[in-house]
Amino acid sequence: MIKKIAVIKGDGIGPEIVTEAMKVLDKVAEKYGHRFDYTQLLMGGASIDANGVPLTDETIAACKASDAVLMGSIGGDTNTSPWYKLPANLRPEAGLLGIRKALGLFANLRPCLLYKQLAGACPLKESIAAKGFDMLIMRELTGGLYFGERKTEEINGVMTAIDTLTYTEAEIRRIAVKAFEVAMKRRKKVTSVDKANVLDSSRLWRKVVNEVAKEYPEVTLEHMLVDNSAMQLVKDPAQFDVMVTENMFGDILSDEASMITGSIGMLPSASMNETKFGLYEPSGGSAPDIAGQDKANPIATILSAAMMLRYSFDMTDEADAVETAVEAVLDQGYRTGDIMSEGCTKVGCAEMGSLIAANI
Ligand code: IPM
Ligand code: MG
Repeated sequence: MIKKIAVIKGDGIGPEIVTEAMKVLDKVAEKYGHRFDYTQLLMGGASIDANGVPLTDETIAACKASDAVLMGSIGGDTNTSPWYKLPANLRPEAGLLGIRKALGLFANLRPCLLYKQLAGACPLKESIAAKGFDMLIMRELTGGLYFGERKTEEINGVMTAIDTLTYTEAEIRRIAVKAFEVAMKRRKKVTSVDKANVLDSSRLWRKVVNEVAKEYPEVTLEHMLVDNSAMQLVKDPAQFDVMVTENMFGDILSDEASMITGSIGMLPSASMNETKFGLYEPSGGSAPDIAGQDKANPIATILSAAMMLRYSFDMTDEADAVETAVEAVLDQGYRTGDIMSEGCTKVGCAEMGSLIAANI
């Protein structure tokens, strides 16, 4: 098969980790007789430097003309980078939110899996880590507080900031359907996370999720308040299969979930629209403190590329091969700095990529 991949390497460690994912994709292409054509695009800080804006119409058009988008990370040090002296709508993050909206990527899939080889890196008690966990956070990505009207203004002489949290029935329904569809291919359990004891948007969320659940009688549905969910994630993460939640709750809970896997450098993500099109990126940020030093962990980006093969290209064997290669390299004892433990062999970003490619 021939597939067109838009590549946004981005800022910080982005270029290093994406280069390794492309190395692995090239090995997949060679082994399975595919061709991947890459178009490199700018977004975030790199686009600000080149074009004065974090996202251009050209980048959006080129993404739309591709079969999928592979992304690294965007943004810099918020305290020191000149990008953060710009108005909020011209900063790197505005590019990321803009591309999510422009491509209609409403469903963000963040799988959180504790690899048995990395159980030692899990910060939870041994008795909890021993049970392992394997969950998927389905985060709504184009609604809620992130995209509601916002303003800061003086009202009756008092500076006041307003953010609005809006969800329509249709927005809730389509993400709920995605969650139940994915649950059908997993352990058939959905935990819907909300704050229905306080928020109207959550009460509508709960009502619509209950309606969608009727179409999936094989799936067990439970509702959980977001504060309790944060607690349950560290108390008993094994209880979760698919967790579906609105944009902001998903942002927060997915960082928490990533931490208990040992390192955010292990977590891939896929952002999808209604079709097979998706944008694939690691869940972690641009880590400007270690950028350009060959220290970053490329595994999350490589696993994101595997999700691209699976969800956008229907290349199941190829995706399995990448995931198996990652496990093999961990079994062989190779570790980047973030997941290093005694008795293992420390390698840099480029070597980790080469090792994984060599195992395909
Ligand atoms: C994420 C990030 C982004 C978000 C930031 C960079 C805007 O934290 O993808 O989780 O909040 O969505
Ligand atoms: Mg986040």
